[in-house]
Amino acid sequence: MLKGKDLLGLYHTSAEEILEILDRTAEMKKLLTSGRKSEKTLAGTALITLFYENSTRTRTSFELAGKYLGAHEVNIAASSSSVQKGETLIDTGKTLDSMKIDYIAIRHPLAGAPALLAKNVHASVVNAGDGMNEHPTQALLDMFTLREHFGRIKGLKVAILGDIKHSRVAKSNLFGLTKLGAEVYMYAPATLMPKEIEKLGAHVCTSMEEAIEGAHGVMGLRIQLERQKGGLFPSLSEYSKFYGVKDKMLALAAKDAIIMHPGPVNRGIELTPSLIDGESSRINEQVTNGLSTRMALLSLLKEYREKNL
Ligand code: CP
Repeated sequence: MLKGKDLLGLYHTSAEEILEILDRTAEMKKLLTSGRKSEKTLAGTALITLFYENSTRTRTSFELAGKYLGAHEVNIAASSSSVQKGETLIDTGKTLDSMKIDYIAIRHPLAGAPALLAKNVHASVVNAGDGMNEHPTQALLDMFTLREHFGRIKGLKVAILGDIKHSRVAKSNLFGLTKLGAEVYMYAPATLMPKEIEKLGAHVCTSMEEAIEGAHGVMGLRIQLERQKGGLFPSLSEYSKFYGVKDKMLALAAKDAIIMHPGPVNRGIELTPSLIDGESSRINEQVTNGLSTRMALLSLLKEYREKNL
C-alpha cells in the first residue's frame, strides 16, 4: 500500500513503496504483453494529463495506461488552455478538482510545481517531471528494466553519464537506486555536475572509464539544450567527442551490461547509433516498461484512494 495520495518524487518514497510499484509493474507488463488493453481496474475514475512542457513517452504512456485500465482520460496542453490567459496553477487544479477527476499527471518547468498542486487538490498528483528536480516514474521504469534483466537491484553498479546538472531523471534514479542498494556512479563535464551530488549518495568520477568499469547499467542522459544558459560546454561536436559514450567503452562494463537512455536521444551525441540500436540496448524496452510502470502506479493510487479518502 502506498503511504500517500500522490507520487511527487523518490526522495520521499520508501524502499517498500518502490518495491511494491516494481512488483505491480511486473503484473502489468504481463497484462500488456498478453495483448489485453481493456481492463476495468480504473473503471469509474478519471485521469487528466496536464503538460506544461513537451513530451512523447511520458504523456502518451500515462494516457494509454489510463485507457487500457478503463479510466476516462483527457489531456490538457498548457499551450491551448486557460493557462495562456493567466490562470494560476492552483486555480487550474481547483477547476479540475471541481470536475471530480481522480488523478493528475503533471509536467512543469518549475521544480516543486507538482507538490504545490498536490497540496491544493483532492485528486492524486503524479509528478511527470518538474524542472531539474525529479521524474519519479522514469526512474521507476529504469529500475524495473534493471531488475528485469539482472533479477535484482541490490549490489548493481549503475553509471549515469552526461548532463546530470539539468537532469531530473538522474536525481530520481539516484534516490531510488540507492534506496534499493545499488551504487550510482556519475560522470559529466564539471559544468554539468551538481556540486553537492556526493552528499545525496552518488560516486562522482573523474573519467568515463571509472564510471563504466564493471557497470551493470550504462545510462546516457540527453543534453538538455533547452535548459542550457550558454557556455557550459564549447559545442555539441566537442561534447560528443569527449563525453559521448563510444562503442569500445562497453567492453569495460560488466559482461551482460545494458545500455539505457530515458529518451529522447540526441543520436550520435550522448551514445553512438550502434550502442542505441545494438544488442545491449534496452532503450525500446524502457518505453514498454514505462507504460507498465504507469499502469502499476495508477492502480496502486486507486487502492490508496479507496482505503483512505
Ligand atoms: N523520458 C521522457 O520523459 O521522455 P518524454 O519527454 O518524451 O516524455
